[in-house]
Amino acid sequence: MADQFDVVVIGAGPGGYVFAIRAAQLGMRVACIDKRGAPGGTCLNIGCIPSKALLHASEVYSETAHAEDMGIKLGSVSLDLKKMMKYKDEGVSGNTQGVEFLLKKNKVEEIKGAAVIAGQGAVNVTLLDGKKRKLSAKNIVIATGSDVATLPGLDIDEDKIVSSTGALTFPRVPKQLLVVGAGVIGLELGSVWSRLGADVTVVEYLDRITPGVDAELAKTFSRTLAKQGLTFKLGHKVKSAIVQKTNVKVTIGKSDDSGEDEVLTVDRVLVATGRRPFTDGLGLEKVGVALDDKGRIQTDGHFATNIPGIYAIGDVISGPMLAHKAEEEGVALAEILAGKPGHVNYNLVPGVIYTSPEVAWVGKNEEELKAENIAYKVGKFPFMANGRAKVNRTTDGFVKILADAKTDQVLGAHIMGPHAGELISEIAVAMEFMASAEDIARTCHAHPTLTEAVKEAALAVDQRALHM
Ligand code: NAI
Repeated sequence: MADQFDVVVIGAGPGGYVFAIRAAQLGMRVACIDKRGAPGGTCLNIGCIPSKALLHASEVYSETAHAEDMGIKLGSVSLDLKKMMKYKDEGVSGNTQGVEFLLKKNKVEEIKGAAVIAGQGAVNVTLLDGKKRKLSAKNIVIATGSDVATLPGLDIDEDKIVSSTGALTFPRVPKQLLVVGAGVIGLELGSVWSRLGADVTVVEYLDRITPGVDAELAKTFSRTLAKQGLTFKLGHKVKSAIVQKTNVKVTIGKSDDSGEDEVLTVDRVLVATGRRPFTDGLGLEKVGVALDDKGRIQTDGHFATNIPGIYAIGDVISGPMLAHKAEEEGVALAEILAGKPGHVNYNLVPGVIYTSPEVAWVGKNEEELKAENIAYKVGKFPFMANGRAKVNRTTDGFVKILADAKTDQVLGAHIMGPHAGELISEIAVAMEFMASAEDIARTCHAHPTLTEAVKEAALAVDQRALHM
């Protein structure tokens, strides 16, 4: 006899577990399956959460170098990497246990094992202890996330050539770290190891960092990271990497194959050139679930695949591979299955890079507005002119607000600066309510806060910033 559920969700990452909780809140009998052994997916186990723990700890470590400027005498500061890793691991287990508690509290049945879709409404699970279970459900949701995309010629062994997973567990600080890809992972983890003492070189195929981020912001960001000690090889690619006994010999050359190649000898290589949707071993081919040319599960506007009763959300479908996007989709799908109007506003999914300073954005950037022929006004305000940033000596960066030239409606915001990832939420909320720049500008912001830079940028849209 198969266990009977209203819905079975495969994957307990931010998409899957949030779906499970919302579906249970709406009265469904839910099973949530994951083969990892701990819920939370890539994000909690080997992604967002451990990387943020290391970003925080390494930032505190590098800040102590300037503590004397604030009148704090520390004596000599040294690194205990093993303990820093323990600090990170405790952060991870605290979070995964929290999710386990939430699933239990909402009466979601958490099943630890590998799932295969056997047909419409049928899921077979091989439990972690080897036992088998057959589940049946009205609906099946695939939330299996993504995996590291490999690069030909760079064989990830998670020792000398690592993905983000290996870069979260280096046993020693590498002397030289070569990062391939100046995207989010490369810059976040490159920053961690640079702060801890590694000599970090970032090889990026394009002639800019962070493709997709507002170009002006990306330029300022790359200058700031270079000032912090990261070396960029833009417009370059890795041609070969030979793993030797104690190091890796990497040949890099111009992306367009012009000029001479360069050989670098480094301790470790981090491959951070993107992720791919993960559907391996799910049995999709047999059931006939259609994928697109990038291997993503094809879904309609309501997350339905081409097979009735099978849905998909998160990194495994189109859109940015972000935990919060997956969460929104999880909630929306649970509501749709409960007969409610679930919806995700994809224009307002914020992006954040958790370096120091942080980079954050929401809505359209200047390049997108130009491409769409939308006339816009720009309001910019530097943190250099913000009292709180000045006193904290965190003055790198600015807030940029883009508003419709005619209606003044805010169309996008781009921030580099302290706590940019927190500051962006105010603008996302304002945009969700279709605010004008004037609405933000006329809102009283507490003094002295970093949020005043947001208000001033909104004032600057009408060329009436007060402190500039
Ligand atoms: P990414 O797409 O952000 O960046 C990859 C970079 O590698 C790009 O700049 C690309 O031009 C470059 N690249 C591609 N092929 C290359 C080659 N052969 N040689 C040199 N450069 C090459 O991908 P990343 O950083 O691996 O992250 C994967 C996913 O995880 C992304 O979707 C990202 O948004 C997500 N993520 C989000 C985080 C956040 O929200 N803070 C943190 C970490 C990951």
